[in-house]
Amino acid sequence: MLGPVILAASRSDRMRRLISAAPVTKQVVDRFIPGETVDEILPIVRELTDNGLELTMDVVGEDITTPEQAEAARDAYLELIDRLKPLGLGERAEMSVKLSMFGQALSGGHELALANVRPVVEAAAEIGTTVTLDAEDHTTLDSMFAIHEELRKDFPRTGCVIQAYLFRTEEDARRLAAAGSRVRLVKGAYKEPAEVAYQQRHEIDKAYVRILRTLMEGEGYPMIGSHDPRLIAIAQELARTAGRKLDEYEFQMLYGIRGDEHLRLAAEGHRMRVYTAYGTDWYGYFMRRLAEKPANLRFFARSMITK
Ligand code: FDA
Repeated sequence: MLGPVILAASRSDRMRRLISAAPVTKQVVDRFIPGETVDEILPIVRELTDNGLELTMDVVGEDITTPEQAEAARDAYLELIDRLKPLGLGERAEMSVKLSMFGQALSGGHELALANVRPVVEAAAEIGTTVTLDAEDHTTLDSMFAIHEELRKDFPRTGCVIQAYLFRTEEDARRLAAAGSRVRLVKGAYKEPAEVAYQQRHEIDKAYVRILRTLMEGEGYPMIGSHDPRLIAIAQELARTAGRKLDEYEFQMLYGIRGDEHLRLAAEGHRMRVYTAYGTDWYGYFMRRLAEKPANLRFFARSMITK
């Protein structure tokens, strides 16, 4: 029951100020967001790729309030791509972006987000990699899918995320399971009302399996974004049944969560991509990680008390 409370706090400015200023926060945050600058994150990129892992990189930030902040987000990604260039990793290091960080919620936000994200997708293509559009709360998704479709006209490998907890997603998956599409399926991390989303874990898990079957039996490239051991086993089975080879789908997990499993799946020959977030505006991302596992919150609270 703690999850929804933490998710509500993730949208509170007062909580943001309190938690961001707490003296011990940083050391707990580091587990999930292992750097604030490009200089700090590049050694992590090297370490992960040396271990046979791939990355999708997220410059943390969302819900910005001015067009200047949206331009700063664009520039942060452009700097990252520029610094990745000499490493020659191609699609082993792709980008994940949240359109709210590119201005989607501002006045004229749909066009603004598209205008800001396009140069990032172009720059990524120039270094042989691609971008995946993260899924945020359900009110943003029609705009996200429209931007995804627009970008794919010139950059067909642009990916997007779909969330199993939303009722709409089974239909979205059928539309997206087409040749050339790259689709990451996740359970969903936002606080959504019962009118649009399953609320019970077992319902979300069942929907996840139904949607994954659609993706696996379709012609696109499924990206399984989950740490759930049962779903990972089911994904392997569905891939086998659909006759997919190991390079015709991939697993994705978040940095700091089940790291042994990242290495185990990679050692089995699977493509394993680690979602690696960095930057200073980590509050929303961090709070969603706390909400996913109440034990994280207990650890965080204990570290504040014992400090
Ligand atoms: P579940 O929550 O059942 O966790 C399974 C097990 O994994 C847990 O028992 C625990 O061991 C471990 N675990 C999971 N979360 C943990 C945590 N925070 N701390 C410690 N252990 C944890 N969501 C979204 O709405 N939009 C998006 O764009 C994305 N993008 C995205 C990319 C990638 C690569 C991943 C893996 C996930 C996302 N998500 C997301 C988040 C997703 O919606 C979901 O909230 C988390 O993945 C947790 O769900 P699981 O499928 O891991 O299952």
